[in-house]
Amino acid sequence: MTRELDAGALELGGGLEVLLAASIDPMQPGARLLVRTPSRATAYELHGWARRAGHRAVAERLPDGGPYELEIERGAHRGVLADPLPARASGPKPADGRMRTSELRWQAEVPASTPASCGFAPLGSIPELGAPRFDWTLNDRDRIWADDVAELVDQAGAAQWDAASAVPWDAALELPEFMERAVSQVMTFIAQNEYAALYVPARFLPGVNPAFPEMVMWLSRHVHDEARHIEVFTKRSLIGGQASYSLASTELSLHSLLEEHDFSGCALLLNVLGEGTFLDLLQFVDQHAPDAATRAAAALAHRDEVRHVHFGISHVRRRIALDPAERAALVAVAERRASKLTQMSGLSPLLVEGLTIMAAGSLQPAELSHGADAVKGLMKTMETNRLKRLAAAGFDPQTAQYLSDLHTPNLM
Ligand SMILES: [Fe+2]
Ligand SMILES: [Fe+2]
Repeated sequence: MTRELDAGALELGGGLEVLLAASIDPMQPGARLLVRTPSRATAYELHGWARRAGHRAVAERLPDGGPYELEIERGAHRGVLADPLPARASGPKPADGRMRTSELRWQAEVPASTPASCGFAPLGSIPELGAPRFDWTLNDRDRIWADDVAELVDQAGAAQWDAASAVPWDAALELPEFMERAVSQVMTFIAQNEYAALYVPARFLPGVNPAFPEMVMWLSRHVHDEARHIEVFTKRSLIGGQASYSLASTELSLHSLLEEHDFSGCALLLNVLGEGTFLDLLQFVDQHAPDAATRAAAALAHRDEVRHVHFGISHVRRRIALDPAERAALVAVAERRASKLTQMSGLSPLLVEGLTIMAAGSLQPAELSHGADAVKGLMKTMETNRLKRLAAAGFDPQTAQYLSDLHTPNLM
């Protein structure tokens, strides 16, 4: 059967080729399209267009005064080096006005693995042949996945905040010198650690196979959260005009964290143990900081860290459940790191001092004693909660205690 197409006033170079392609591309090779045009010149030019597009002009009618007709037989050539697109079907569905990331998988399960060579093919797209080969390093779902990663992506997207305006910065301006020095030191320490919390997921990001868009989005949002933490704590450390130290012991601890290259190993060391322990530190700062700006910075960062820790626990638990041998591998990761940190003993005295002054609120002996007790209480809380998180991640009480004892005295 020959289809017919009225070109109207359209000319080649003026949009007619788009109409022609839309008509002829879906047709089977050998099928025919009769094109009608009022322009004799266009009718002549159609011969060349058909040839260049891989088709064949098979008949023409050029009566005086027009309209002019050219019959084109569709060639086997396709404009794209790929199979024809599948027939239109139903797509993912929004619910309550929201398009959830979990809906990306409305058609099929997340694949267990996907070729390392594939390119940036968005989910559901048909890759064209002839693209360069990529060489992704994270191609197996179970090495990186967490069952609720899609929900975490959505939570992260909904919980973004602006470090320039979400903190009442003016509240930080009038602290006495001893207190500003304490706050600045604690802020610098936190900011220092936030760098590692950014660099670790950022390093994995370009290795993730694009067939796992949830993981690409999750790691990107994690990185973005940490960028905001670096921003907010750096700004708070600077705003009072008081410099403080970036501690060598912290550098040593973070350096050893960056030396771990296994995704699950980093999920344990960074997300479960490091960021987990920081949850308690941030809560302490939120509770004891002398000014509303510092308290707000800690509370906002805490909200984000809850997600990061949740991911880590969820990932490690899944990994161990799928492969119980992974438990021993993760213990070995913690041992390896601890062996690099044997020269560290306890939290840096400068940090202890800063936290104590914050909790004391003054340099009065009685209040300082109270502040010191609060810091000791923080250390206990950190350990108790670390054990709970390790249990939630799938470790028995004895192993959890061992891992908690191995954890860096730097907290992250
Ligand atoms: Fe952070
Ligand atoms: Fe974090």
